[in-house]
Amino acid sequence: MNDTVTDTVAQTAGALQPYYNRHVFCCMNEREAGHPRGCCMEKGGAELRAYMKDQARALKLKRVRINQAGCLDRCELGPTMVIYPEGIWYTYSTKEDVDEILQTHLIEGRVVARLLLQPEEKEARK
Ligand code: FES
Repeated sequence: MNDTVTDTVAQTAGALQPYYNRHVFCCMNEREAGHPRGCCMEKGGAELRAYMKDQARALKLKRVRINQAGCLDRCELGPTMVIYPEGIWYTYSTKEDVDEILQTHLIEGRVVARLLLQPEEKEARK
């Protein structure tokens, strides 16, 4: 193996088969009650991530990983998740939201527009 690094990350990534087709990171950070930013755990992040993992298994999704993450720093918008390789962010609060992300994004490869977080979005949704 050549130990001289000459390729860019993009060149290497483009040449390799990804280990996972989709890698989902669900925030499960927990803060003390009353913290001004809140946290995804107090909004059901753990239960919803467990549900998503179970459903992904039941649907027999191949090369999809549903991981727990620490704080993704968009706490006011939580629970939050980010899906790679696209780098698409969602906010979700129900099992129905999770079902829609599984079906629409992970199976059909389309974005769930109503749950999509815009890059500049910072404030909690009303
Ligand atoms: S606590 Fe979930 S994004 Fe910060």
